[in-house]
Amino acid sequence: MSQMMRAIRQHMFGGPEVLVYEVAPKPEVGPGEVLVRVHAVGLNPPDWYLRDGYKMLPPEWRPQVSFPLILGTDISGIVAAIASDVKGFSVGDEVYSMVRFPSGMAGGSRAYAEFVSVPAADLALKPTGIDHVHAAGAPMSLLTAWQFMVELGHDEPNPLQPRRHAPVPLAGRTVLVNGAAGGVGHFAVQVAKLKGAHVTAVASTRHEALLRDLGADEFIDYTKAPPEEAVRDLDLVVDTLGGPASNRFLRVLKRGGALFPVFPLGFAGGEDAEKLGVTVSATQVRSSGSQLSEVGRLLDDGTIRVVVDSIYSLADARKAHERASVGHIQGKIVLEVK
Ligand SMILES: NC(=O)c1ccc[n+]([C@@H]2O[C@H](COP(=O)([O-])OP(=O)(O)OC[C@H]3O[C@@H](n4cnc5c(N)ncnc54)[C@H](OP(=O)(O)O)[C@@H]3O)[C@@H](O)[C@H]2O)c1
Repeated sequence: MSQMMRAIRQHMFGGPEVLVYEVAPKPEVGPGEVLVRVHAVGLNPPDWYLRDGYKMLPPEWRPQVSFPLILGTDISGIVAAIASDVKGFSVGDEVYSMVRFPSGMAGGSRAYAEFVSVPAADLALKPTGIDHVHAAGAPMSLLTAWQFMVELGHDEPNPLQPRRHAPVPLAGRTVLVNGAAGGVGHFAVQVAKLKGAHVTAVASTRHEALLRDLGADEFIDYTKAPPEEAVRDLDLVVDTLGGPASNRFLRVLKRGGALFPVFPLGFAGGEDAEKLGVTVSATQVRSSGSQLSEVGRLLDDGTIRVVVDSIYSLADARKAHERASVGHIQGKIVLEVK
């Protein structure tokens, strides 16, 4: 087998133009790892944050990176080789994964490539009912929705807050999902519905039909009216946009309700939340093969659907990042690796 492969690499931080399609060494398979021939790669915001050098983080928080760098965390593909100590997978298995996150967030996940080495603990059998493109669209976004809303699934310390993040009951509750058409949002809508919530989806105009189709009971077009003026007395707001503007959702929650800012950096409404009797909580998504197996059953039978915004070839990763920078993503952007 050749020791080389094709990959998207970058030799400096910058915009989409720094992404170069070139020959790179094929990864070695370390202990506990599986080598996967990648068929599709799902894109996520940490890809552009890292491409750009995590400029939105204070300098002391920015991860140390060595070049050349290969971006990406989410893959679907076929097992090509297995370390001798790994049980439970065979060469030829179709698998999917969010690779080494957050431990690989400085470039250790390396998904934009023909081959990637994956810790077996981060890997699951791909749902057979969906293709590689759809499977690659699921891992980070769906695990985020699941770990925020259903089951955290680990006891690692929370880098975002001193206490453990805890999901809240959803059955019979009123849940608003902001950024509902995006990667995390479209799964959050479906997870909340699956668990019995009454769901209000907030997005721009063109996403209404999709979100109603995914089960949203109410739709708020934020381009026509501020969502925080259209609702009140909710049990939970999952704000996939997060950041400082998340404060505005505190007042739409009932006492005892919860706000989950999925992007918590910059949130400064702690005091107001306390006065209003609202819990504010966030977590950082973590790789989990066992949770991917669990949600894989829901993807397999169509209970949860992966919506694909657009598909590019691996060689066109730059165009995919240009698409992402325009925003208003509906579901997932995916790279196909032939
Ligand atoms: N805590 C974690 O571990 C974790 C994990 C995953 C992601 N995240 C963070 O979560 C955020 C979302 O990630 P993602 O992958 O879902 O991003 P995404 O796919 O880009 O989705 C963002 C969505 O927000 C919508 N939007 C933009 N402006 C809006 C507004 N003012 N009001 C309502 N919706 C608006 C966009 O479409 P429209 O404007 O057309 O409606 C788009 O569908 C990112 O900041 C990411 O870093 C955090």
